[in-house]
Amino acid sequence: TNRTFTMIKPDAVENGHIGGILDKITAAGFKIVAMKYTQLSKRDAEAFYAVHKERPFFADLVTFMTRGPIVSAILEKENAVEDFRALIGATNPAEAAEGTIRKMFATSIGENAVHGSDSDENAAIEGSFHFSGREIY
Ligand code: GTP
Ligand code: MG
Repeated sequence: TNRTFTMIKPDAVENGHIGGILDKITAAGFKIVAMKYTQLSKRDAEAFYAVHKERPFFADLVTFMTRGPIVSAILEKENAVEDFRALIGATNPAEAAEGTIRKMFATSIGENAVHGSDSDENAAIEGSFHFSGREIY
């Protein structure tokens, strides 16, 4: 068993998809070990996405991720990182497979409904960025 980190992004929250996305996540066998409803500050978003700071879409990404509340969570399952990336689908929802969360709930490549960590190492870093030890069960 291991863990991944996810966020339900502002577009999906605005569009009323929190419940639908959590349903897909739990139906796929992920156990929620931490969860909160929160809003990122500009500083939080810039730090969280620091690896993308030289990319042309960085400013848009920070504006988008801070424009409203998100749901952040740590999920537990065997092979969590890889299985969760498969469940959410391609970054661009137009290229995401049928039945994936981004295919069902995302709007565009920029507003793509959910985040999923891309490695075990980043899952641990991202989880501890959002949650203290006392908030993880
Ligand atoms: P995350 O799970 O959110 O990290 O997505 P990802 O791993 O599928 O994609 P990546 O880490 O490459 O990009 C991070 C986020 O930046 C994406 O989820 C998008 O929200 C945004 N992004 C990536 N590429 C583009 C782009 O070409 N244009 C815009 N506007 N945003 C992009
Ligand atoms: Mg990524």
